[in-house]
Amino acid sequence: MTFSRRRPAWGRSASRGLALLLGLLLGGSAAAFAADGPRAATAAAPSQAAQKPGRAAIASANFHATNAGLEVLARGGNAFDAAVAVASTLSVVEPESSGIGGGFMAVLRRAGDGREVFIDARETAPAAVDSKDYLKPDGTPNRDTALNGPLSAGIPGEPAGLAWLAKHYGKLPLKDSLAPAIRIARDGFEPDSRLREAIADRADDLRRWPASVAKYLPGGKPPAEGAAWRDPDQAHTLELLAERGADGFYRGEVAQKLVAAVRAAGGNWSAADLAGYQVKERAPISVDYRGYRIVTAPPPSSGGVAVAEILNILRGFDLGKLDRAHRIHLVIEAMRRAFRDHNDYLGDPDFVKMPLEMLLSPYYADGLRQSILPDKATPSSMLPYTAAADPGMHTTHFSIIDKDGNMIAVTSTVNYTLGSTFVAAGTGVLLNDEMDDFALVAGKPNVYGLLGSEANAPKPGKRMLSSMTPSLVIGADRSAVIGSPGGSTIITQVLEGILAFIDGKSATAIAAQKRFHHQFMPDRVDVEEGVFDPATAESLKRMGYELHPRQSWGFMNVVTWDHKTNTLDAASDPRRPSGLGKVQ
Ligand code: DON
Repeated sequence: MTFSRRRPAWGRSASRGLALLLGLLLGGSAAAFAADGPRAATAAAPSQAAQKPGRAAIASANFHATNAGLEVLARGGNAFDAAVAVASTLSVVEPESSGIGGGFMAVLRRAGDGREVFIDARETAPAAVDSKDYLKPDGTPNRDTALNGPLSAGIPGEPAGLAWLAKHYGKLPLKDSLAPAIRIARDGFEPDSRLREAIADRADDLRRWPASVAKYLPGGKPPAEGAAWRDPDQAHTLELLAERGADGFYRGEVAQKLVAAVRAAGGNWSAADLAGYQVKERAPISVDYRGYRIVTAPPPSSGGVAVAEILNILRGFDLGKLDRAHRIHLVIEAMRRAFRDHNDYLGDPDFVKMPLEMLLSPYYADGLRQSILPDKATPSSMLPYTAAADPGMHTTHFSIIDKDGNMIAVTSTVNYTLGSTFVAAGTGVLLNDEMDDFALVAGKPNVYGLLGSEANAPKPGKRMLSSMTPSLVIGADRSAVIGSPGGSTIITQVLEGILAFIDGKSATAIAAQKRFHHQFMPDRVDVEEGVFDPATAESLKRMGYELHPRQSWGFMNVVTWDHKTNTLDAASDPRRPSGLGKVQ
C-alpha cells in the first residue's frame, strides 16, 4: 500500500517551520509525554493528595451499568473494580456502543501513590490482515468489508483490559466485579429505546449472520418495548472470563468458537491472534492549562495529542477578554490545526515513530498560533472535500471517583453502531468493526470522515488510531473525570468539556452543554442546534465559517470533585435518557 502525504498550502508556512525547528532545538514542553520511558507518571497531586471524598460517584450511559458499579463498590471494591462492573454491564445492556467484542482506553489515577497511567485495551489487526480485502475488484474502497462482518473486526482488547484492571488495580477478584453483568445477562433486562432503534437501524446487516439474528432479532424483529431480553451465551462467556481471567476468552472454548465463526464467515483470525493479545500500559499525556493539569490519552489515540495541541495554542490568547464569536473563532482555528496533524502523523506507537515532542511543544504551538488571523477563518483547502458521517449513538464513556479518591475515565467502543453486526456463534460476542479506524485505503476517509496516512496503515498486530479521549482534569480546588463517544467529535467535545470545567461549570452543565466541532476536513463547523446565539453565529459567518447543523453528539458522563468542600458530583448526558450519574 502506498500513501502520499498531503501538504496543505497554509500549514507548511515558514513561521510554522521555524517554530518546529525551535521546538525541536529547545525541547521546551508544556505537555509531557514519555512514550517508552517510565510506564506511568507518579505525580505529586495538588491539594487533594491526602484527601479522601468518603463517598463515590459514577456517571455512565446506562443506569444498570452505574448501579452495577455502585454494587461492586458497596461490596468493598474500588473505582477500578467498579470500572470492570460498569464496562461488562454495558457489554450486556448497551451492546450498540461497546462490549467484550471491542476495546477500551482508560486513564486512571491511583489515590494511594498518585500513579497515573493509560490502559490501552485497543483492538489489534489480525496477523493475516490484507489491505486488498478492503478494496473492490475495481480498486475502489469496499466500505462493506471495512464496516460489516468479520473482516471489519480487530482482535478484541476489552476482556483482557478488564482482567488487567482487576488484577493490577482492583481489590476484588474479577468474578465479583463481573457478577452484576453475568446476572443481568442471565436474568434479562428491558432494552432501552436506543438499543431497540440501533437494532432496527442495523437490521439488514444483522440479518446476514444467523447468530446475530438469533441474538438481536428474535422472531425476526428487534426486541419489543418492555420485553425482558436475555443473553445466555454472553453470560457463559463472561463466566469463563470470571473463572479463568483473560485465558477464559483468549484461549480454550471461547477462542476456538470465535476463530471458527470468523473463518466460516470469510474472516482471517487465528488462535495465535487471540492468544497473543496484550494489554499495554502507557504514560498518559499531561498538559498544564490555566492552573489545571489535564491527564489524557496518548497514541494510539489521537485525542490527547490533539487536546494538548489545542490547549497549547489557546494558552497564548487572553480568551476572557474577547467576545464570544472571537473566542469561538480561536478555538475552531486551534481545532483545525490539531486535526490536520491527526491526519498526517499519528498511529500505533509500537509501530510508528511520531514527532510527539514537536507536536506537544509550546514552540510548535506558538508557530501555529501565529498563523491564525484575528478575524478570519483559515481555509483548510488543498485536501479534497470529504463528508464526515454523523457519528450516531455508539461508543460509550464512563467516569468514576471512589471514596478514597481513586479516579478512572474509560471510553469503550465496538466502533460503529452494533460494531460489525457479526455475532460469533455460541459466544454471545458481538464483534467490533474497528478495522475501519485504520487508514485502510490511502487518501480515503473512514466512517467519521477522518483521513489517515502511512502512520495509520493496517499491519499485523498493529492498533488502529482512535479518537477516544478519556481524561482527568486535576486542579488544586477542583478535579474532574471526563470523556465522551462521538467518533472524531470525541476530541472536540472533550476539549469543550474541559474548558467548561476550568471555567467553573458544574458536572450537570458540562454534560448538557451545547457543542461545536471542526476537524480540518471537511472545512466547516458542525454545530448543535442552539450552541451559538444569532449574533455569534452571524459574526462567525462573517469571518468565513460555514456553520453546518449536526444532529448527533456524544454522550458525556462527568464526575467532579470539589476539594474545598470535599464533595463529589456526577452527571450523565441528558441526550441519553437511560444514563445515570450518581453519588453514593
Ligand atoms: O476509536 C475511535 O475513535 C472510534 N472507533 C470511536 C467510535 C465512536 O465514538 C462512535 N461514536 N459515537
